[in-house]
Amino acid sequence: MFYLTTAIDYTNGAPHIGHAYEKVLADVLARHRRLRGDETFFLTGVDQHGQKVQQTAEREGVEPSEFVAGVTARFLALWETLGIRYDGWAATVDDRHKACVRAILDDLKAKGQLYKKAHSGHYSVRQEQFLTDRDRDESGNFGPEWGEVVLFEEENWYFKLSEHTAWLKDYLETTPDAVLPLFRKAELLNALDRNSGTDLCISRPKERLRWGIELPFDPEFVTYVWFDALINYISFAGYRAAADAGLPDFSRLWTAGERPIHIIGKDILVPAHGIYWLCMLRAMGFPDTLMPRLLVHGWWNRSGEKMSKSLGNIVDPAELAGRFGIEAVRYYLVRDIHTGRDSDFDVERLIMLFNTELANELGNLCNRALNMSQRFTGGILRTGGPETDDDRALQASLAESTAAYQAAMDDFEVSRALEAINRHVVHCNGYAERMKPWELNKNPELRDRLATVLYHLAESVAHCAVLLSPVLPDAASKLAAQLKLPGFGSFGLSDLKWGLLPDGHEIDKPQPVFPRIVIETPEGK
Ligand code: MSP
Repeated sequence: MFYLTTAIDYTNGAPHIGHAYEKVLADVLARHRRLRGDETFFLTGVDQHGQKVQQTAEREGVEPSEFVAGVTARFLALWETLGIRYDGWAATVDDRHKACVRAILDDLKAKGQLYKKAHSGHYSVRQEQFLTDRDRDESGNFGPEWGEVVLFEEENWYFKLSEHTAWLKDYLETTPDAVLPLFRKAELLNALDRNSGTDLCISRPKERLRWGIELPFDPEFVTYVWFDALINYISFAGYRAAADAGLPDFSRLWTAGERPIHIIGKDILVPAHGIYWLCMLRAMGFPDTLMPRLLVHGWWNRSGEKMSKSLGNIVDPAELAGRFGIEAVRYYLVRDIHTGRDSDFDVERLIMLFNTELANELGNLCNRALNMSQRFTGGILRTGGPETDDDRALQASLAESTAAYQAAMDDFEVSRALEAINRHVVHCNGYAERMKPWELNKNPELRDRLATVLYHLAESVAHCAVLLSPVLPDAASKLAAQLKLPGFGSFGLSDLKWGLLPDGHEIDKPQPVFPRIVIETPEGK
């Protein structure tokens, strides 16, 4: 079983392009694995508790529950629009999740992993965490990234995180795929060296925060939002759930055969996932063989700057999809970034990449393969004619591209996988220009040759449709429908062999699938 999750998004504001990127990336990887024939479960959702939500709801004069319901609906609508096909929806106000969090808290307390103590210290309201001297900048102050910092003295519950950090260091050092890509693991190990002596405060007194999961053993407190949110990965996977809860069977989803993958942004590796979560799992009794892998992606910025409400440079994915089409957005979000690295969001590049790689290159290939087959051979494809070196080179190019695509997808590098497909498309267009089917058509003696050339082009489109389907499900189905591709939707990547289209196969009327994006410029420009 391939069990894949994303971070669950905060419901204190509208979804933006960063949220959309992560969900599209996960959706593409999940669709790819389903296409490979692997049983796959993809979980995504929303993080609905915490101080930020309570504050925003208060500002808007509504109950937090009402407020999160509204924001959650926007996320759900966006995932529907963008074609995100998830198998499980994690919403942390769900009673099944709350019951799981409480059961875990009870267990950890029974195991002596939780204790109560009084603490006085600096607290960042924005980051919802206590600060230590390590969080001060060179001049000894808490920098603007912490927002308002207040001094608190209060009792709280703590998790004995420090009991697990030596184990964590060893686990990270000895497990090659604990954190991907590798350079992110180094960051985590550095942070661990700086951070290993402290325990984790896992509660908030109710007078300060009402909007959270009440501690089962101390009703004056609610659970710290990160402790609550991280548990979504197991609560919605059926951990400690009743058989009739409508949740998956945990032992089938969370296996050592293929350890789960959590896709997260670089900002939530340290300390939340890389330290808290792995130590929480260990304290619950998860062995090393059942530790999840963390796939850490970079950020989409604007002109090198972080996107933020205050800078007013946030990109709205729904607006973008309305302007350029859903698939243009999906394509761009996984094409113009390397998994793990940051990238700069740039509408000009979205248009350029769509127009170059899809409208021009692939569109041209489809047009040649489908249109010319319709016009020159009545839509009937023929195989079996003698093959030339050019034909064999085209087949070799397809095999190379397919292997490179597969290797890149296995490395979660969708951008490289798309480049590989594009290489083959470019090869095919070069082939068409050299073979000139429009010239072959003029000579009745070359009808066999014409059929072979058109077959090579159509067969290539068939393969590209399958390979592209995780990223562009809609365009891929349209192409497959026009080709009347036998078995599309049911066959897997291992069925991708030369000859998907049989001899004598009749294709359908072609229709443009990738209309060029044309930007209306104001008159005179
Ligand atoms: N609620 C927490 C996650 C809890 S997981 C148990 C959270 N939410 S978030 O809404 O702030 O971010 C959700 C995800 O979106 C995170 O993985 C974050 O890294 C990602 N992104 C937020 N802004 C982003 C960009 N500008 N670019 C790419 N991804 C970014 O953190």
